Amino acid sequence: MKKNGQKEVCSNTQAVHAGETGAYWGNSLTVPIAQTSTYVFEDSDAVHRFVTGEEVRIDYGRYGNPTQHVAEQKLAELEGAEAALLFASGMSAVTTTLFAMLSTGQHAVIMDDCYRKTTQFCKMVLRKFGIETTFVPAGDYEALEGAIGEKTRVLISESPTNPHLNVMDLERVVEIARAHRVKVIIDSTFATPFNQRPLEFGVDLVIQSCTKYLGGHNDLIAGAVLGAAPIVGAIKDYRGILGGVVDPHCAYLLIRGLKTFPLRMARQNEITFAMAQFLEAHPRVRRVYYPGLESHPHHRIAKTQMRGFGGVVSFDLDTDLEGTMRFLDGLQIPVIGASLGGVESIVSHPASISYYELSREDRLEIGIKDELIRYAVGIEDAEDLIGDLSQALDRI
Ligand SMILES: Cc1ncc(COP(=O)(O)O)c(C=O)c1O
Repeated sequence: MKKNGQKEVCSNTQAVHAGETGAYWGNSLTVPIAQTSTYVFEDSDAVHRFVTGEEVRIDYGRYGNPTQHVAEQKLAELEGAEAALLFASGMSAVTTTLFAMLSTGQHAVIMDDCYRKTTQFCKMVLRKFGIETTFVPAGDYEALEGAIGEKTRVLISESPTNPHLNVMDLERVVEIARAHRVKVIIDSTFATPFNQRPLEFGVDLVIQSCTKYLGGHNDLIAGAVLGAAPIVGAIKDYRGILGGVVDPHCAYLLIRGLKTFPLRMARQNEITFAMAQFLEAHPRVRRVYYPGLESHPHHRIAKTQMRGFGGVVSFDLDTDLEGTMRFLDGLQIPVIGASLGGVESIVSHPASISYYELSREDRLEIGIKDELIRYAVGIEDAEDLIGDLSQALDRI
């Protein structure tokens, strides 16, 4: 997507080459895995140059690693960000960022449809440190502005959200935040930089769970925060203290995954759109949540700020809990699991996987119905996936 005549980013060329210097050990084509915890100094003068800032280098693995730096540079270029920081998980990126940006007595506003562990962090951990959070319905801009007070420092949202795929009007969120001098953090994991680049809308920080589409192979856990260099630099100090750094082998897997990321994402957008259309027309499906469909309440805004609509489609089946289980067990291609974004399709039943600790009444209050399914589409053939959906729908 190009906005205000800006250069197209997140291209295949960038995905393959960005961040890579090519000057690697033994003339290796691929980025070597610097499997080390510590870095040595040739003499005491080298130590002096390092501590006085005369020489910029790494001294210890918790503060950085050459393989990790290549991955960070590649992520920054794909997102159109000045700087990127990698973490041991998406949640480590979320928690370290919020610890860095909030102090005791301050306040944050968060959309209620955010990832469950992010909301738990606000309710259980930030509260323990005297930081209060107000939850507002995703997409209710009056409630969002009304929740901002003198002590508010941060607005946090996902876009699209999980599992209902609500899409925030980023320009509007930024306008509200600027009027109150509040920073905006968008968890863009479901969109990825291929489909949406929140920094172009004035958002201060983007968070990505690289575990999902960026890694793309269901084989790593990592997270990133991206934005302007000064704010990312401040968060880096907290990462060094809190310790949620990614390991070098994981950084290598991420680099490898990123090389095919735009190819995969384009395909996942395409297949998911076709599946959403199929589901919407099916008599055993009551409602489909996919921002690419005209029936989605945020379709208009999604069309203006997203290049594609992503690889997740959620839907309510026209049945009860037993029928939903027959459907789930009837699917032959996707595995049942909790993640998304990889090459293998994964289907989940949010009520029993992610929200099982809540009572049915509490689940219903936030739209997690017994018959809600979240389908994270992989890169299998569309006709196979649709054929499989069709036979499973016949079983309910
Ligand atoms: C939107 C979103 N943000 C953050 C996370 C956390 O990422 P991770 O599992 O890499 O810690 C997830 C995980 O599912 C997610 O869906």
